[in-house]
Amino acid sequence: MKIHILTLFPGMFNGPFSESIIKRAIDRGLVEIAIHNIRDYTSDRHHVVDDYPYGGGQGMVLKPEPLFEAVESIGGQGGVCGESEKGESQIPVILLTPQGRLFDQQAAQELAKYEEIILVCGHYEGVDERVGEHLVTDEISIGDYVLSGGELAAMVVVDALVRQLPGALGSEASVVEDSHWRGLLEYPQYTRPQAFRGWVVPEVLLSGNHAAIARWRREQSLLRTLKRRPDLLERAELTDEERRRLNEHRYADSS
Ligand code: ADE
Repeated sequence: MKIHILTLFPGMFNGPFSESIIKRAIDRGLVEIAIHNIRDYTSDRHHVVDDYPYGGGQGMVLKPEPLFEAVESIGGQGGVCGESEKGESQIPVILLTPQGRLFDQQAAQELAKYEEIILVCGHYEGVDERVGEHLVTDEISIGDYVLSGGELAAMVVVDALVRQLPGALGSEASVVEDSHWRGLLEYPQYTRPQAFRGWVVPEVLLSGNHAAIARWRREQSLLRTLKRRPDLLERAELTDEERRRLNEHRYADSS
């Protein structure tokens, strides 16, 4: 997979992309990350990337020209994601903005299927509206709060995508057991020592009975999701029996 990132602050990516799973995925050739400085795509002498907002107001707005120039020179076409009029598949061009749709595991799984994507980091007070209308195919927010720019959000998106690429983690099973993978939170994990300050590891995990361990983990996953993120249960894949048992818990908790 190839991920292009358009940013005014390329240096911000040095640390996060040269450590841990992302670094290993790059070293193994599973992903190529190309950082493009938006300023390099200006055509004026002073390399101006922003300007005052029409109509007045606080702050500066990112100009459209360098962003269009950058995306088009990489090979993105803008418009609606999917197939172009000529039937060629288009590269998703994603603007990171607090106004975008909320990023979640499902969005991460969808994006990880593409061979190539372009992430555009917004900055200053905003981005010229014509970028959203005519250049990007999607707008993504990583949460309902405002960051100083799209860079940290782009790092979050890259991390969530890269860990799903086959071979990026030590074992394929790890992704499948991640929280949110099947719409539930992950079960509790323990390691040695078996007793720490008097707190002991649940007996079943020491039993060697794989079926019983799998049942316990599933149950814990369900209960934890019910307690912490009941909203996730609406969309989770549950058996009728599991839904019935969860309803009993709900009822018991509320009485
Ligand atoms: N840029 C600023 N805030 C953001 C957010 N919450 N998500 C994505 N991009 C952003």
